[in-house]
Amino acid sequence: MSKSTTKYVCQSCGYVSPRWVGKCPNCTEWNTFVEEATQPVKLSRKMGTASKIEPVPMEQIEGEDVPRVSTGIEEFNRVLGGGIVPGSLMLLGGDPGIGKSTLMMQLALQLKDAVTLYITGEESVRQIKLRAERLEVKSSKNILLFAETNLDLILDVIERGTPDLVIIDSIQTMFRPGLESAPGSVSQVRESTALLLRLAKTKNIPIFVIGHVTKEGVIAGPRVIEHMVDTVLQFEGEAHYSYRILRALKNRFGSTNEIGIFEMHDTGLREVLNPSEAFLSERRYGTSGSTVVSSIEGTRPILIEVQALVTPTSYGVPQRNTTGFDYRRLSLLLAVLEKRVGMHLGNYDVFVNIAGGVKIDEPAVDLGIATSIASSLRDVPTDSTSVAVGEIGLGGEIRTVGQIEKRVQEAAKLGFKRIILPKNNLKNVKGNGEIEIVGVDCIESALEAMLQ
Ligand code: TYD
Ligand code: MG
Repeated sequence: MSKSTTKYVCQSCGYVSPRWVGKCPNCTEWNTFVEEATQPVKLSRKMGTASKIEPVPMEQIEGEDVPRVSTGIEEFNRVLGGGIVPGSLMLLGGDPGIGKSTLMMQLALQLKDAVTLYITGEESVRQIKLRAERLEVKSSKNILLFAETNLDLILDVIERGTPDLVIIDSIQTMFRPGLESAPGSVSQVRESTALLLRLAKTKNIPIFVIGHVTKEGVIAGPRVIEHMVDTVLQFEGEAHYSYRILRALKNRFGSTNEIGIFEMHDTGLREVLNPSEAFLSERRYGTSGSTVVSSIEGTRPILIEVQALVTPTSYGVPQRNTTGFDYRRLSLLLAVLEKRVGMHLGNYDVFVNIAGGVKIDEPAVDLGIATSIASSLRDVPTDSTSVAVGEIGLGGEIRTVGQIEKRVQEAAKLGFKRIILPKNNLKNVKGNGEIEIVGVDCIESALEAMLQ
């Protein structure tokens, strides 16, 4: 009698259970267990050959700078920490349809002198070609396309051809014939990634792996391989807006602070080198409920318009709704406005929107949200030549924010006349005389300064 040959694996976190369970005891997700074969994997490939089996004293290791290959896309380089590190394995995650394949194809087209091997498990080579033709950059002579999902064949092709860059689109479609579980399952995704990692390191070829993120956990999320790869990039954006943000969630060769901003056009993704101007381009002057805030994304200051709409509630429970801002943070700000300023919002619906479809989770935008809400409630426009920045505490006090000098400079650069900021930050700003700097210590004085 052979022993049971199946196990149940959580497709969200990889937890293994001998029998099916409804709720994962590890990550508490529901309905994520899928039956997989437990048959041991016979690895035909050799494991990485270690030439030395002795530990090395640290001081003998040369600590020179990591060499990097420029992607030819400035925003992309910035997120990677300067460029692609040879031999690194990078994961590009994002919702389906956000533009991951487009970004990768543009990268391949930009790297004119390097041979890129684009492996597609989702689309036919014709579809890939059609997409490339839509894009602005035309030279494509150094791109090799390969429509295949069998990882053993793919690894063979990479080893024989030794390309300069490999793109796997996507990891969820790849499978190893030795493993019995379906492509996209945790074991397949993990095993495929491990093999690609070994190849990247031994051949010193950088590899990009595309992974879809699904909230339902039906397909193994790339979460299970995040710890294996060198860099995790996330491509995000609202489906109905054209702005896309590339973020490094993990980077062994650089900081995870930087973001790259792109805009999706009919001819592909275009870099947004001047985000403040782009985000403010559709601003309407003189309407109530709008404030410009100076937010820091990574190390870059970005001016963004925050909007609020406050209207009397017509049906029962008042609504609170946010786009691009944390819902609980809004509730907190409303409570502070109610208690400290005496603004009664219990019979009003409140909608908050960050213009341009971007998400901000920085507390420094609190003040801008509060002034927008007050402005809409009173139907008085805020001063359109001023920028507001500051975190609001539960006592209604305005708390200091980081990197204030950069925020002030950006506001001055874009021609704003005045910036309202936390009083305690005043000692950190010099200012250059171009912009008036007003320090406020409580929410009332901030409202006084912003609402005329
Ligand atoms: P795609 O790169 O296929 O997304 P993903 O690989 O992340 O699933 O692109 C998705 C969307 O982008 C698609 O709906 C069409 C749009 N798009 C443009 O708007 N302009 C373009 O030039 C291209 C190539 C795509
Ligand atoms: Mg795709």
